[in-house]
Amino acid sequence: MRDAAPQTIYLKDYTPFGYLVDNVHLTFALSPGATRVTSRIAFRPNPKVTDRVFFLHGEDLKLHWAKIDGADVSPQLTDRGLTCTVPDAPFIFEAEVEIDPAANTALEGLYMSNGMYCTQCEAEGFRKITYYPDRPDVMSVFTVRIEGDENVMLSNGNPVADGDGFAEWQDPWPKPAYLFALVAGDLVNHPDRFTTRSGREVELNIWVRPGDEGKCAFGMEALKKSMKWDEDVYGREYDLDIFNIVAVDDFNMGAMENKGLNIFNSSAVLASAETSTDANFERIEAIIAHEYFHNWTGNRITCRDWFQLCLKEGLTVYRDSQFTSDMRSAPVKRISDVIALRARQFREDNGPLAHPVRPDSFVEINNFYTATVYEKGAELIGMLKTLVGDEAYYKALDLYFERHDGDAATIEDWLNVFQDATGRDLTQFKCWYEEAGTPRLTVSDDFKDGTYTLNFEQKTPPTPGQDVKNPRVIPITVGLLGPNGDEVRESTVLEMTEGKQSFSFDGLSTRPIPSILRGFSAPVILERKTANTERAFLLAHDTDPFNKWEAGNALARDGLIAMVRDGAAPDGAYLDAVQTMARDDDLDPAFRALALGLPSQDDLAQALFDLGHTPDPQAIWDALETLRQARAQAMQDLAPRLYAQFQVNEAYSPDARQAGARALANAALGLITRLDGGSQAQKQYDTADNMTQQLAAWSCLLQAKTGDAATQAFYRQWQHDRLVIDKWFMLQILHAEPEEAANTVKKLTKHTDFTMKNPNRFRATLGALSGSAAGFHHARGEGYKVLADWLIKLDPLNPQTTARMCSAFETWKRYDSGRQALIKAQLDRILATPNLSRDTTEMVSRIRG
Ligand code: ARG
Ligand code: ZN
Repeated sequence: MRDAAPQTIYLKDYTPFGYLVDNVHLTFALSPGATRVTSRIAFRPNPKVTDRVFFLHGEDLKLHWAKIDGADVSPQLTDRGLTCTVPDAPFIFEAEVEIDPAANTALEGLYMSNGMYCTQCEAEGFRKITYYPDRPDVMSVFTVRIEGDENVMLSNGNPVADGDGFAEWQDPWPKPAYLFALVAGDLVNHPDRFTTRSGREVELNIWVRPGDEGKCAFGMEALKKSMKWDEDVYGREYDLDIFNIVAVDDFNMGAMENKGLNIFNSSAVLASAETSTDANFERIEAIIAHEYFHNWTGNRITCRDWFQLCLKEGLTVYRDSQFTSDMRSAPVKRISDVIALRARQFREDNGPLAHPVRPDSFVEINNFYTATVYEKGAELIGMLKTLVGDEAYYKALDLYFERHDGDAATIEDWLNVFQDATGRDLTQFKCWYEEAGTPRLTVSDDFKDGTYTLNFEQKTPPTPGQDVKNPRVIPITVGLLGPNGDEVRESTVLEMTEGKQSFSFDGLSTRPIPSILRGFSAPVILERKTANTERAFLLAHDTDPFNKWEAGNALARDGLIAMVRDGAAPDGAYLDAVQTMARDDDLDPAFRALALGLPSQDDLAQALFDLGHTPDPQAIWDALETLRQARAQAMQDLAPRLYAQFQVNEAYSPDARQAGARALANAALGLITRLDGGSQAQKQYDTADNMTQQLAAWSCLLQAKTGDAATQAFYRQWQHDRLVIDKWFMLQILHAEPEEAANTVKKLTKHTDFTMKNPNRFRATLGALSGSAAGFHHARGEGYKVLADWLIKLDPLNPQTTARMCSAFETWKRYDSGRQALIKAQLDRILATPNLSRDTTEMVSRIRG
């Protein structure tokens, strides 16, 4: 049971543990309802600590016995752990506990998924396996013996022995308990090998349930590319003789970087042309890389405490985005990352859940695996690299690995490495880690006597618990274009350090057109009054792909805002500019597909709110529909031409080139469908031989309200495949009319294939509801109620996933008083639920404010 009064943990209270752990031996006697875990842990007093308290974390454990140096002891037990009197010298602690993996629906600790044993220990799940100092700064080598009749039994490190009914593993690298992993089940593998550049032969395996072995090849290639890339770019080699990946169906997140034994949500590793979209393939490649890269940034160098989570996550997200940029198109990756950052992180930073990249307090750490820690954390690394330059960046990273290998480190350690390697004072930069909120950067300009001046002002709005914000150092990459479109000043990085600051460029013959914040050089909101003609000009001429896209995006956004706010007609300047861009065969098709995207409903709601306007979700939906229809009309000749031009007439490959062509052709299909009622989409549906084409066609049919036959056919074709059926649930909800969204969810949650125990299925259904703004925020309030009903039902089973999905409500203060009252009633109802988890209590309380 959870505590009655959850405690807030503060960064400032950090103290090291009073004991060091020399080694750990664990024996697991597996049984679904009663697994026995025997531990033998060698402790030693920590000479750096004077007031030593021997406390071992432990939750939901049945203690059979405990011994110190071979003699029975009777520790004091609480619902959070165990204390007992220990010698003031090295000693051996032993214990046997019993746990119930079959009853573990929280998917944290040791649990069962489809008859297979697996673990998830980050952040604090190891304490549900045995009594242990479950904190990242306690590192030790582990030896693990698994007893059971499963044909595959895996743990971290290298295999050292196996025989009838047992397997033994030894991990030579000291690690914190959150990186522990165990898997046992009847699994099959997709094997391969990799030779590191210093000649180590590494055995690679992807382990899956029988039947899924045909979906491993792509993940394996991604793994080998990642291993090679980390050697080439960061000089980091793999450090064990074996690397195992396991696919698990029931998993709370994407994947986990356990040492030598990465465990993946099956949606983040299994791929085939027939069942996965191009976007799925790209995501899988990125997650495999991410988890692999953690071997150095996370495992070899870990975090001192969970406040430092961004030390490993921000850096590893940054590294995986570099990898994707190198494997695919760097501009397309940057634009997609910024779209996601604005959708998730800016939204978080502008609401009640805003927190610093390095938070200074938490109740439940699982609630801090956020877009801020991950994605904004990665942006900070990118800014550092921009500020110090590429060469200094890699020099600093070399020093980081050299100085901190084997450490549990902090953000201070990280910044000190940069200071020492580059001689640069990073005091002001640290503000990015400590202060929440997205800076607003306003810009004005003047031109006089050949000198062009940009005047910037930065302001960060208050966030919960932080009323006053300091000016930050902001790298602003700027280029200048001449009236004929030539670049008259190449990109330079302006380093803004004051609240208000001006930068001048002289020797110009005419007033230039500025391209500001190229490559999105800092995670800020740029506010500048810009004429439509200037935006169209940048969309046509900017040499910076990000700002080229941004110009089109801003044109679309401003036009939509005028439609919603002033009842304006679709903006002709946008319709002309987007056509010119779409027709331009010098541009990468993937870029053109992105530039044909429109701002999301949620982005528009936030933009309207920032302009002092209460957003009406239905009006936003209507404006988007009207613009899409007008665009289809305006492009009625171009769309069929693009559709034909970008058909891929070769064997399917998920590579960037083919994926870009399909993305553009499918964007064209969307335009065509608005005029032909779905006949072209039906043809594509009937002939599709890959999921990208099939899903795009079905989406068009759903949008055209002619999708019923395809909906049935899709289900019949794919009912045996859980991952594809997730798509089946999701798309029906995403494409429902706003007034039908909640009902569609009610209908689908009654379907025999709906189960709340599988997080992927739950997210596909309830996550799709909160992802379709007009449906979720429909004025009747049914969307709020349906989501709250399901969150209340899921909470006792799986607090982590429940708490995470509460963020659907985080934008509530943007809306009108009617909607606010409806949401508040649901938040209150959730909070009033007896025995609500610590996770959900914290989230809902913070959101409610
Ligand atoms: N470290 C994992 C990753 O980023 C994610 C673990 C998430 N844990 C959690 N409790 N939410 O790859
Ligand atoms: Zn990670």
